[in-house]
Amino acid sequence: MKIERVGVVGAGQMGNGIAHVFALAGYEVLMTDVSEDALQAAVSLIGRNLDRQVAKEVITEETKAGAMARIGTTAALKDLGQTDLIIEAATERETIKTAIFEDLVPHLKPDTILTSNTSSISITRLASRTDRPEKFMGFHFMNPVPVMQLVELIRGIATDEPTFKACHDVVDRLGKTAATAEDFPAFIVNRILMPMINEAIYTLYEGVGSVKSIDTSLKLGANHPMGPLELADFIGLDTCLAIMNVLHDGLADTKYRPCPLLTKYVEAGWLGRKTKRGFYDYR
Ligand code: CAA
Repeated sequence: MKIERVGVVGAGQMGNGIAHVFALAGYEVLMTDVSEDALQAAVSLIGRNLDRQVAKEVITEETKAGAMARIGTTAALKDLGQTDLIIEAATERETIKTAIFEDLVPHLKPDTILTSNTSSISITRLASRTDRPEKFMGFHFMNPVPVMQLVELIRGIATDEPTFKACHDVVDRLGKTAATAEDFPAFIVNRILMPMINEAIYTLYEGVGSVKSIDTSLKLGANHPMGPLELADFIGLDTCLAIMNVLHDGLADTKYRPCPLLTKYVEAGWLGRKTKRGFYDYR
């Protein structure tokens, strides 16, 4: 199974990072989004992020130019039909992801591997809405994609070995490290990380500490690069809430109950860095 052309669905925070690392590793990338503006913004952000790597002498100007030349964009989902591997990185809502897969399927080559960058939703359930559950996997990158080393690989109940191996080989070619997780709610990283972030929000909600003291405690007391509230703002509070809801619903245990303060912030539209307001004020 030779993978050279890669389709990325969604030009947001994760989608543009995924396009960035694939193009840098020599793959031809076609990125799609419902918004032309989002596609333009993503391409210019990829250029700026590649510039950071040039400035740090991680890559040369020539490598940057080569990577940029390998990234194409389209607003038409069907244009991804001829790619060998598709990574869906749309909003973390099952109805949106399912609709994308259903729209994509009629246009795909028979051997195209379909994957989702979902951080929590059942791979088996998403796969069941396609014509190729054996060629469907979870391919979960961490944010910021160009910096973070890990990719979680998740098999659905029907995923076959050639598909798993092809995806594992891709992770190797990206120069990243794969960790395999079983298909349970939120897999490994978010099963552990999100309850910690949720607990940090409870700690704030119950008045145990301020935003600053909670983040300082974990940064200096546990050597985390970011405090949990700063990290929640970075990930997006809507995404954090969506993942907590998947854990709560999927595992039916009250220990995964989303903190009411998290829900309130999301209802207020305070989603973190992307809306310039979350636990911190970025305005
Ligand atoms: N593209 C390219 N390079 C980038 C980048 C990007 N988007 N963002 C940061 N960098 C580079 C910087 O150029 C810098 O390079 P050097 O180390 O060579 O100097 C390096 O990354 C560090 O960046 P900064 O100096 O700007 O800032 P920092 O030292 O504060 O580090 C951070 C930033 C890497 C984001 C660090 O704070 C960190 O690791 N935070 C935790 C991130 C984390 O936990 N991510 C996982 C979130 S969970 C998830 O993603 C799963 C999910 O499903 C929700």
